[in-house]
Amino acid sequence: MNLALIGYGNVGRALVRLLRQKRRPFPFTITGIHTLRHGTAVNPAGLSDGLPEAPHFGPRAASIEEFLDAARAEIAVELTTLNPSTGEPAISHIRAALARGMHVATANKGPLAHAYADLRDEAARAGLGFRFESAVMDGAPVFNLWRHTMPGVKVLGFTGALNSTSKVVIETMERGGSFDDGLAAARKMGITEADGAFDVEGWDSAAKTAALANVLMDARATPQQVSTRGITRLTPERMQEIVREGKTVRLISRGRRTASGLSLRVRAEVLNRCDLLACTPGTSNLILFHTDLMGTFGTVSINPGVEQTAYGVFSDLVELSRGVDGADVVNGNGGVGRHQR
Ligand SMILES: NC(=O)c1ccc[n+]([C@@H]2O[C@H](COP(=O)([O-])OP(=O)(O)OC[C@H]3O[C@@H](n4cnc5c(N)ncnc54)[C@H](OP(=O)(O)O)[C@@H]3O)[C@@H](O)[C@H]2O)c1
Repeated sequence: MNLALIGYGNVGRALVRLLRQKRRPFPFTITGIHTLRHGTAVNPAGLSDGLPEAPHFGPRAASIEEFLDAARAEIAVELTTLNPSTGEPAISHIRAALARGMHVATANKGPLAHAYADLRDEAARAGLGFRFESAVMDGAPVFNLWRHTMPGVKVLGFTGALNSTSKVVIETMERGGSFDDGLAAARKMGITEADGAFDVEGWDSAAKTAALANVLMDARATPQQVSTRGITRLTPERMQEIVREGKTVRLISRGRRTASGLSLRVRAEVLNRCDLLACTPGTSNLILFHTDLMGTFGTVSINPGVEQTAYGVFSDLVELSRGVDGADVVNGNGGVGRHQR
C-alpha cells in the first residue's frame, strides 16, 4: 500500500526505519513526504527505493491538497508537530486526506483532543479508517485494546502517568541536576514535544487526557477544559525535600464520570515511591482504566522511545492495509468499536 507522510521528524524517520526492517512481510511504499521547512518529496510511483531514509526534498508543495493530490497514496500518515491549543494544522491535514478517499493514521493527539467525534464521523461516512494508536502511551495498545478486546465494557474513568518528559525532568532533579538539565536530557532522547514547555506545563498531558476522554468516554472535551497544572513550579530543592520523605512526584492525568458530568484534570502529584503510579522507571508510562465490568486494570510501557511510537503507527498501517469497515465509533456503552450494522 502507498503512504503519504505529512511530517518527517523523530517519529517519521523512526517509522521509515521500521518499515525498512519489516518491508518483506509488510510491503509499504512511500509516494510522498511533506514537511514545513525541508520541502516536499513526491512521486506517485514511489520515492527512490520505496522507503528512502534520506529522501531528496524539492520545493515545498503549495498546499496540503496539492501534496496529497500528487502523492496519490491510499493512506495519509499525519506526523506533524502537536498544537495543543487548536489541534491545527493536523485537523485540516486529516480532513484533506479523508476528502480524497485516503485512510488516515496519526500519532498526533491534537486532532483527537479537539475534533475526535467529527473526524470519526467523517471517516465513517466515507467508509475510511482513522487510526491513532500512538497518540497516547506511544505504541502500547490503548485504543486498539478497547477496539478489539473489550466488548460491552464501559469506561468510568482513567488515571495515568502519561508524560515521559516530566518524569525525566523530575528524576534529574532527584539526582541533584537542574530543571533545564532534565529538559535537555529528554530532548536528547527525542521524546519532548517541539516546544518542551508543552510537556512541563502540562499541555501534552491535558491533550492526552482530552483525547482519552473523547475516544473512550465520548466526552467532546478540549485540553482547555482539562484543569491543568504542570511541574514548572518544582525546584531541585523541593524535589530533594520530597526525596528525603521517601516520596516522588509524577504528572498525573485523571478522568472520571461524576453526577454532574466528566471531571478531567492534570496535576503534579506527590506520591509514595511504592505507589503503582510512581514505581515504573525512566520514561515509562502507565494507565489504569476504571470500568464497570472489568474493574480496574491497566497497561504499562517500560522505557518507551520513539521506536515504540513508530510501532504504534506501524500497527495502525497494518490494520488499515488489511481493510477496515470505516467506523471507529464509540458505542452507546462507552466501548470503542466498529459500527453495529
Ligand atoms: N516523539 C515522540 O516520542 C512522540 C510520541 C507520541 C506522539 N508523538 C507525536 O507525533 C508527532 C510528531 O512528533 P515528532 O517528535 O516526530 O515531531 P518533530 O520531530 O518535531 O517533527 C515534526 C515534523 O512535522 C513537520 N511539520 C510541522 N508543521 C508542518 C506543516 N504545517 N506541514 C507539513 N509538515 C509540518 C516538520 O517539518 P520540518 O522537518 O520541515 O520542520 C517535521 O518534519 C507529534 O504530533 C507528537 O505529539 C511523538
